[in-house]
Amino acid sequence: MDNSAPPVVGIVHRASGSAIRLRPVAEDDLEMMRRFAVEPGLVGLDWAGFRDAAAPARRFAEDGYLGDRTGGLVVQVDSAADARAGYLSYLQGQYGGRAPYWEIGIVLLPEWRGQGIGWRAQALLCDYLFSHTPVQRIQASTHAENTPEQRSLEKAGFQLEGVVRACEFRAGAWRDGCLYSRLRDDPSPL
Ligand SMILES: CC(C)(COP(=O)(O)OP(=O)(O)OC[C@H]1O[C@@H](n2cnc3c(N)ncnc32)[C@H](O)[C@@H]1OP(=O)(O)O)[C@@H](O)C(=O)NCCC(=O)NCCS
Repeated sequence: MDNSAPPVVGIVHRASGSAIRLRPVAEDDLEMMRRFAVEPGLVGLDWAGFRDAAAPARRFAEDGYLGDRTGGLVVQVDSAADARAGYLSYLQGQYGGRAPYWEIGIVLLPEWRGQGIGWRAQALLCDYLFSHTPVQRIQASTHAENTPEQRSLEKAGFQLEGVVRACEFRAGAWRDGCLYSRLRDDPSPL
């Protein structure tokens, strides 16, 4: 056994020579998190105006983005020099008073989009959440015009449930959303 190898942190998916890793947020990820808060459009269609750039440091100090009901992991590509590709979030919701579920979200930095990272990262997050929490359902919503995310969710094992009318105020208008889910018994594509 090679005792000099650094410990592997996070959960990994390997395919055709590339490895995608989900790992906890580290202090040097906070600059990326601040960019998401203050760079118009960096988060894509989810941009809803400037956010508090000091909030990421506060959140990191509070619980390292690993709370019981809300959290997030960094997406890393192991083969690259600056391997930080983006961020995945999860937030607990509740149906019927006693039926918790997760709502997940994702943003990749622009230079990492369109390379097959998004669907693998979201599939990996589902496998992780189904392994470590007893939820039956993981949901995700996206915009009617967000073809990359719709396709990415389908490849990650999600099914379209329907259109949620006028659920989002964005770019000066109320807009519809597309609601997707993956259930515990749905097959993982990984
Ligand atoms: C949406 C997002 C997570 C998708 O991840 P990604 O790594 O770019 O997408 P993938 O490479 O995994 O592609 C998944 C599928 O979508 C397709 N796709 C990707 N980008 C596309 C585009 N611009 N137009 C059409 N299809 C696209 C891919 O071709 C692939 O399908 P295929 O295998 O049938 O060819 C990523 O683009 C992103 O972070 N965008 C900005 C933030 C955002 O929109 N987040 C979601 C908010 S709800």
